[in-house]
Amino acid sequence: MTKYQIHGGNPLHRTIQISGAKNAAVAIIPAALLVDGTCRIENIPQISDVTLILQILQELGADVRTVNRTTVDVDCSRVRNRQVPYELARKIRASYYLVGALLGRFGWAEVPLPGGCDLGGRPIDQHIKGFVAMGAEVEVRNGLIYAQVPDRGRLTGGQVYLDMVSVGATMNIMLAAVLASGMTVIENAAKEPHIVDLANFLNSMGADIMGAGTDVIKIRGVERLRGGAYSIIPDQIEAGTYMAAVAAAGGEVLIQNVIPKHLDCITAKLVEMGVEVEERDDAVLVRRNGPLNRVNVKTMPYPGFPTDMQPQIAAVLCLARGTSVLIEGVWDNRYRYVDEFRRMGARIQVDGKVAVIEGVGGLTGAPVHACDLRAGAAMVIAGLAAQGVTEIDGIHHIERGYETLVEKLSGVGADIRVIFVPDEESQSQVG
Ligand code: EPU
Repeated sequence: MTKYQIHGGNPLHRTIQISGAKNAAVAIIPAALLVDGTCRIENIPQISDVTLILQILQELGADVRTVNRTTVDVDCSRVRNRQVPYELARKIRASYYLVGALLGRFGWAEVPLPGGCDLGGRPIDQHIKGFVAMGAEVEVRNGLIYAQVPDRGRLTGGQVYLDMVSVGATMNIMLAAVLASGMTVIENAAKEPHIVDLANFLNSMGADIMGAGTDVIKIRGVERLRGGAYSIIPDQIEAGTYMAAVAAAGGEVLIQNVIPKHLDCITAKLVEMGVEVEERDDAVLVRRNGPLNRVNVKTMPYPGFPTDMQPQIAAVLCLARGTSVLIEGVWDNRYRYVDEFRRMGARIQVDGKVAVIEGVGGLTGAPVHACDLRAGAAMVIAGLAAQGVTEIDGIHHIERGYETLVEKLSGVGADIRVIFVPDEESQSQVG
């Protein structure tokens, strides 16, 4: 078993490079299924979720070639298999994008229900509602999603009003609609940067998508998509996580390869807390020397404060002067990490979707568990700011979404390393 060991208390200095966006990459890679020819996809993050989705495409028969560390060529022209292997699909949430992509390309798909972080109920009824509006028959049975167009023909454009703003449903319906006959309209669509990125990718391959980034997206179906090259946007949440790390640990770090506009929702809260953030063309300079002020935060769909930054901002709020109120506006259960923070001296009360965080002078290092991806990132942030040693297990969750986190943080002066713990010792810790 491997863990991260952090000796906290070092302020952070110098620069960090941000990688390509996880939640864009895991949709854009399956989108290659819709394309006749080779898609060169650049700025791919090296994280386990991306490795898994590429592996699934290969299992389906795609030709995947690594060009360099951040670029792959994906050619799905010879894909014939529409049945996604359970062992791979269950490990990743984004495997649901294979339903939209396979349905759009072949008129049928058989995909195991997806996995991913446990954040409470994660239904996919809105995805299904979209496919049905385009003429598909969809059934969930024995842990599998069976979707097909009668006679395995082509989907037809439809009108879909999403009952709640869903990133996954918006992107999945877009994927299904690009090769459908006629126009599909998605109302109450999500507006996250990765929605726009998926639309830009598909449009650059010949799709006709309008309105991505607003709450009405119109997709006029086309006959075929052709190959081309596309570079994925920088990861908003990875950048936000390192901004929060500087806020917690102190120091001054230039965070490079970002789109500052995508970070506005995070920057605004950090500035309210007394952190200095200077925007450059493709970088933000984050500086924190003085004390942190308390703030209230409510997570919301973009352009609101992202739920995927909620645990990380909670780590910073533990160090602020005064009491902050945090409201989780997207997921039912995203406070499972709170007990771990308490081990480090945090004072947090949770009632449903509300957490009340009483700032403490400082945190103290402790052994803690990363229960999901962003909670794990928050443990790292708390560990960087804490006095003493923090050891974090469950780091496979963190590696799903953060490329070379240890190297990036070591590069700005953090004392963080991967340690190997013999299995016997790790077994005896499991209660
Ligand atoms: N929802 C439904 N029915 C649906 C779809 C969603 O009720 O058919 C509800 C969900 O239960 C949730 C809300 O709508 O309460 C929003 O869910 P959404 O569909 O937007 O989430 P998602 O697409 O499953 C993606 C990211 C998550 C991120 C959310 C919100 C991927 C692979 N995952 O999930 O990312 O939290 O959007 O921004 O893109 C992460 O990266 O750590 C992560 C969990």
